[in-house]
Amino acid sequence: MITLHNITKKYTLHNEEIIALDGIDLQINQGEIVVLKGASGSGKSTILSIIANMTKPTSGEVIVNDVRVSKLSDDFSSAYRLHNIGFIFQKYNLIPNLSVFDNIIVPLIPKNLKEDLIIHKVEQLLGTLQLETKRNIELKKLSGGEQQRVAIARALINDPLIILADEPTANLDEKLSLEFIENIKLLKNLHKTILIASHDPLFFDHDIVDRIIDIKGGKII
Ligand SMILES: Nc1ncnc2c1ncn2[C@@H]1O[C@H](COP(=O)(O)OP(=O)(O)O)[C@@H](O)[C@H]1O
Ligand SMILES: [Mg+2]
Repeated sequence: MITLHNITKKYTLHNEEIIALDGIDLQINQGEIVVLKGASGSGKSTILSIIANMTKPTSGEVIVNDVRVSKLSDDFSSAYRLHNIGFIFQKYNLIPNLSVFDNIIVPLIPKNLKEDLIIHKVEQLLGTLQLETKRNIELKKLSGGEQQRVAIARALINDPLIILADEPTANLDEKLSLEFIENIKLLKNLHKTILIASHDPLFFDHDIVDRIIDIKGGKII
């Protein structure tokens, strides 16, 4: 489903070259739950960003579902992201003053869908994530666990095949981190392919995780 072939990424900062990724070869199968494990600065977020085509690799090739992602023009790139990728961010990136409903539909804004179709999609997700009674509540009035489920609903709203989660438990206490694992089980049941960048030991010996990939200095070790 996802193939990275000899990916390198170099940044130039104050005339100094930073090698963020140094020859990454990676293959992830449909339905797999994979954890990218590595210290801060090892290149985990850059890998996620390259898979989402938000960052272009300096060299190498990214193929997702037979699409050569790095060759896409900007228009096709947005469409690719919209249809294939759902994101769960470290701090969720939710909007506190908007309702649960409005937070979930944010990724649909560029799509111009009919209102009844949007309502149908959101209501399905509210059911899946046990948020039915929270539909019109302002996000900031929800508990941490509920906010997490809203973030997951938003990642699912376009029915993407791939979910990318960047340090999803970094700001969570133990209870919420365990809830996150439960939510991942739900995503697995929906046959999503899930890539989690994290250095949280919670993921390292959990049976929900199919594979752990160690990253160090931009390389797989
Ligand atoms: N936009 C950028 N400009 C310059 N350097 C960057 C940029 N993004 C990431 N880096 C550098 O690339 C390396 C890998 O970063 P990152 O992928 O964020 O690692 P991780 O997610 O594992 O903490 C780090 O050295 C980081 O400082
Ligand atoms: Mg990171």
